[in-house]
Amino acid sequence: VVDIRKLYSGADVFTYDPGFTSTAACESAITYIDGDKGELWYRGYPIEQLATSSHYLEVCYLLMQGELPNAAQLADFEERITRHTMVHEQMHYFFRGFRRDSHPMATMVGVVGAMSAFYHDSTDITDPMQREIASMRMIAKLPTIAAMAYKYSIGQPFVYPQNDLSYAANFLHMCFSVPAEKYVVDPALARAMDLIFTLHADHEQNASTSTVRLAGSSGANPFACIAAGIACLWGPAHGGANQAALEMLEEIGTVDRIPEYIAKAKDKDDPFRLMGFGHRVYKNFDPRAKVMKESADEVLSLLGIENNETLKVAKELERIALEDDYFIEKKLYPNVDFYSGIILSAMGFPTSMFTPIFALSRTVGWVSQWKEMIGDPELKIGRPRQLYIGEGRRDYVDLKSR
Ligand code: ACO
Repeated sequence: VVDIRKLYSGADVFTYDPGFTSTAACESAITYIDGDKGELWYRGYPIEQLATSSHYLEVCYLLMQGELPNAAQLADFEERITRHTMVHEQMHYFFRGFRRDSHPMATMVGVVGAMSAFYHDSTDITDPMQREIASMRMIAKLPTIAAMAYKYSIGQPFVYPQNDLSYAANFLHMCFSVPAEKYVVDPALARAMDLIFTLHADHEQNASTSTVRLAGSSGANPFACIAAGIACLWGPAHGGANQAALEMLEEIGTVDRIPEYIAKAKDKDDPFRLMGFGHRVYKNFDPRAKVMKESADEVLSLLGIENNETLKVAKELERIALEDDYFIEKKLYPNVDFYSGIILSAMGFPTSMFTPIFALSRTVGWVSQWKEMIGDPELKIGRPRQLYIGEGRRDYVDLKSR
């Protein structure tokens, strides 16, 4: 690691690193990734152990506070999150201003940004107490907002949170309850939902987290910063890949068509990529993908649809790609998004909800990273340099002379 600030002073020397492939923009004590070994730790704890033994709200506490909670701390944290799950009643009108057929991510970018107008009593970032309240509000309300965006998009009435349910069960309730029928959340599905939240909770300085940090470095309020993160996450190269991956698997449709798509992905003249494959940092299996694959098997067998054609296509595609020289040479492995869509689809979510679910899961990572940054006494505004490649100085030409 070379700290260039110590090597060079003054503005005349700088590094050029498009895509930040080898430049750290910050120090962080939250999440560690070893891309060569395929390891991911939250605050030092391996993701596999947290996936098996912990649950999302405990992981939220860990990410935010740095240590696992004791029983009293966890109970207090859960109680505080639960108390914040409702959204301001006037936000209902705000939702109703959107077209019914808007993508839930579009609605979420707007609604979360607008939280600074609804909760401006927690936007003073100089006050640690307000920073804490804003963070808790976002972790608590994002499931409600995502579920409302979904309900609105399908023309159903909003469902209020039911606070005797767990965080994950409550989200399923808000998405799938309808007034005329009693919806009972299956605990196994709630556990699978919780696992998806846990696996997506943080992933160090990815594009959306870096966006949150960059926005926050100017002193912008936390709701605006998280809205910026949501906007960035939506891109198909990032969080939008879970929707794109399932759509691709459905388009492939049957196992016999896989070679055609593998050939397309390898063709330099074809922009097609295998969605859910490859990662900037992992040059080995994404550890989250392994857990997700096991969970996909469990959920589909629980629902009695283990012969699901899409899962068959996914497994066969993975097998063929992992034996193919192109994917071996470029170290392209399935990432977290490869199997998550299959689980979400089996649970009943349309593809348009996949990225909103990623966004609500990642909110704790974003707020933890934002809080870590704002608490740094040496915080500097993020301001990348550029390598100018435009015209040299030239004189203005009058309109009639052009
Ligand atoms: N299918 C086929 N070829 C690929 C794929 C893929 N999914 N991913 C990368 N490659 C190839 C590229 O064409 C490139 O080939 P080249 O060296 O011959 O030019 C090489 O592998 C390196 O690819 P880059 O795009 O330079 O790698 P980068 O680290 O910038 O991109 C990314 C990583 C964006 C994730 C890329 O692998 C990708 O587009 N994957 C598909 C989308 C996806 O699944 N995104 C989710 C990422 S995980 C997340 O955000 C939660």
